[in-house]
Amino acid sequence: METRDYLTAARNFVDAGDIAKVLEHCAAVLKDPFASLDDTLACIDILISIENLSDARLLCKSALKTFPSSEALRDRLAELPSTDFQINAPQANQQKLFWRPTSYEQAKFGKTYNPPGMHQLSEEEKDARWEKDTRSVIEVMRSDVPLRADWHVLDVGCGVGRLIKPLRSVAEQVDGADICEEMIEFSAQYLEDAEGRGEIKVNSGFDLQAFKTEQYDFVFSLHLFEHIRSRANTTHLMREIRRVLKDGGYFWLQVHEDNGNYGDAYGEGLSFINYEFLGNGYSHNDLRDLLEGLGFFVQFIRGEDYWVTALCQK
Ligand SMILES: C[S@@+](CC[C@H](N)C(=O)[O-])C[C@H]1O[C@@H](n2cnc3c(N)ncnc32)[C@H](O)[C@@H]1O
Repeated sequence: METRDYLTAARNFVDAGDIAKVLEHCAAVLKDPFASLDDTLACIDILISIENLSDARLLCKSALKTFPSSEALRDRLAELPSTDFQINAPQANQQKLFWRPTSYEQAKFGKTYNPPGMHQLSEEEKDARWEKDTRSVIEVMRSDVPLRADWHVLDVGCGVGRLIKPLRSVAEQVDGADICEEMIEFSAQYLEDAEGRGEIKVNSGFDLQAFKTEQYDFVFSLHLFEHIRSRANTTHLMREIRRVLKDGGYFWLQVHEDNGNYGDAYGEGLSFINYEFLGNGYSHNDLRDLLEGLGFFVQFIRGEDYWVTALCQK
């Protein structure tokens, strides 16, 4: 189907009162990276016509980044009520749907760890690459953070527990949080032969409700925040990470740089679009501003290839 056909179908579904189909067809238009200003304005008007004003406003704001001189976008934005929100729950729900693995194999290699070229490797080669990369991440982390044997550690966005397993033989307790219940079920299988102790618990995607305040010496997240297309949820989750850290505790994270494929650091996802892997990307300054704005003391921000790594303390 062409963009024009999707728009016609979306308008027909407005008339038929089938809102889910309206959104599905608008999503098809907006997922095209070359969607024109006219297509975007048409979607905004469709959203306004079904009184989905919050998505209409978010769409105006994000489209203004691509079409900054559009008077039509500015006019519509001026007329739409403010949507500055603290939590973007619909976007967290979209994320939950995306991360759900259908098999142990997919949990490991399709979702948790999926570097380019993996699909060409044999099973043995995949396992060897998994082990090698995991060892090298742990080495980097341990050279950045003075990890001690009596520490309590939390991995946010832990997947099947790739990094938890080796860390359990180093620290007293290593827990994990993940948005996806099915992923956590597969983590039980992956961590079956892990030493040490710890628990993996599900989180909402924007908070750490199941975790007590000031109980961790070290919290880390590897390749999580670039998958969150919501500044609101990112801010809320990082505030929660700060809450569960002890005073002086460390927060280490690695995210993808803003390369134009991801949303920018302030991106706020529409409720009806699943951005899959493409959350928000970060420049060094974006990440520093975000962490400092939440009261963290930033020790360093560094870049390697397209990854941005930060270490900070509460
Ligand atoms: C690319 S995987 C990385 C997994 C793990 N950190 C690793 O490096 O092996 C991203 C993980 O983050 C989880 N995730 C995505 N969004 C999340 C959120 N908002 N809160 C917690 N976990 C999330 C996914 O379910 C997935 O397991």
